[in-house]
Amino acid sequence: MLCLGAANRDPRKFEQPHEFRLDRRNVREHIAFGRGIHTCAGAPLARVEGRVTVARLLDRTTELGIDATEHGGPGHRHYAYESTFLLRGLKALHIEFNTGPS
Ligand code: HEM
Repeated sequence: MLCLGAANRDPRKFEQPHEFRLDRRNVREHIAFGRGIHTCAGAPLARVEGRVTVARLLDRTTELGIDATEHGGPGHRHYAYESTFLLRGLKALHIEFNTGPS
C-alpha cells in the first residue's frame, strides 16, 4: 500500500521534512493530491477552499496561535493524529485568537 503522507516527509526529497516551511524551493513537488492517472480530480477546488479558509480566518482574527493548555508550549507541542495510513490528519487542533476589527 502506498502512503502518500510518508512520501511527503521523505528526507531524501525534502530538507527537514517535519518542519512546516512554506518557502521550500521544491514545495510544489509534494504528492498530497496523488500523481499520474489518478491525480485528485478535486485538487483545484481543494486548493481554493484552503486558500479562502485561511485568508478569511486571518482577516477576522488577531493573535492567532496554538492553545498551549491543549497542545503544550513552544518546543513542547503534542498532537493526536487519526490512526490511518491513508493520510496524516490531526484529531483536533485547538487554537486561540482574538476577533479582529472586521
Ligand atoms: C485537501 C483535500 C484533498 C486531498 C488531500 C485529496 C487527495 C486525493 C488523493 C491523494 C487522490 C489520489 C488517490 C489515488 O492515488 O488513487 C485523490 C483522488 C480523487 N479525489 Fe481528492 N483530495 C482532496 C479533495 C478532493 C475534493 C474536494 C474532491 C471533489 C470535489 C476530490 C475528488 C477526487 C476524485 C474524484 C479522485 C479520484 C481521481 C481518479 O481516481 O481518477 N478530492 N484525492
